[in-house]
Amino acid sequence: MLLKELLSDYKQTRQALLAANFYNFETLKGITRAAALLERPVILQLSESSIDYMGLDMAVSMARSIIREYDINAWLHLDHGSSLELLQRCLDKGFDSVMIDASEKSFEENVKISSKAVRFAESYNANVEAELGYVAKLGQKQESGEYTKPDDAKRFVELTGVNALAVAIGTAHGFYKRKPVIRLDILNMISKETPAALVLHGGSGLSDEILKGAVINGINKINLATETKNTFMKKLKFLLTHTEEIDLRKVFPPAIDEVTDLIKKKMIIIKPIDV
Ligand code: 13P
Ligand code: ZN
Repeated sequence: MLLKELLSDYKQTRQALLAANFYNFETLKGITRAAALLERPVILQLSESSIDYMGLDMAVSMARSIIREYDINAWLHLDHGSSLELLQRCLDKGFDSVMIDASEKSFEENVKISSKAVRFAESYNANVEAELGYVAKLGQKQESGEYTKPDDAKRFVELTGVNALAVAIGTAHGFYKRKPVIRLDILNMISKETPAALVLHGGSGLSDEILKGAVINGINKINLATETKNTFMKKLKFLLTHTEEIDLRKVFPPAIDEVTDLIKKKMIIIKPIDV
């Protein structure tokens, strides 16, 4: 099934898909094994810096072969694409979905660039995500007090034709320095105004209640990155200080297990297991 079809289906049925960023083979394995164990679909995301780190070919090949090996329903997505050139590179390598992030530009510029991305991705039948509003990136001021306006979201989706829209409802990337104020009421209004699937960026550090509330109020894709990185590295640091073992194939597995546990937990929060 095409990702844009599934997201559109999720929009109607008020469900959300976990979109997890991976950084290397180990985090990829941790994430996909969770999807296999729970038999849940998952979006595998790559940021530009992860692409630079692993190499595009390597990252795509690893993702495709592990999807096959675990026999899971998964899609490959470019996270925060900064240019149409990068989108093209990814689509040519078979990505199912791309994000064009022109959220720091004016509304008009964002419309212009995002529309181009939509037209461009058409021939690939790919899902296109854009962002409207301020969702602080790592290192940026977290609270802005600015939220995506429902009317703007409606107009933006009409003008661009994007399938998915990342909205600003009080979340930010990275861990929260203060308890965030998440405006589920605004999210609910946006959700009623637009046919696009809605995306929550900055999923790390949000309480289970907020994550559940976000789904109930219209989020269809939840992005999770920092918690995965942190979970893996925390366990690895602990292991390295508690063992003389130098065989990385023995040191890495418990850290991969932690990633699997984290992803399973998040998947169950988003959609409890039927009993
Ligand atoms: P976190 O790093 O806060 O989980 O955000 C993830 C994200 O939005 C990736 O695009
Ligand atoms: Zn993001």
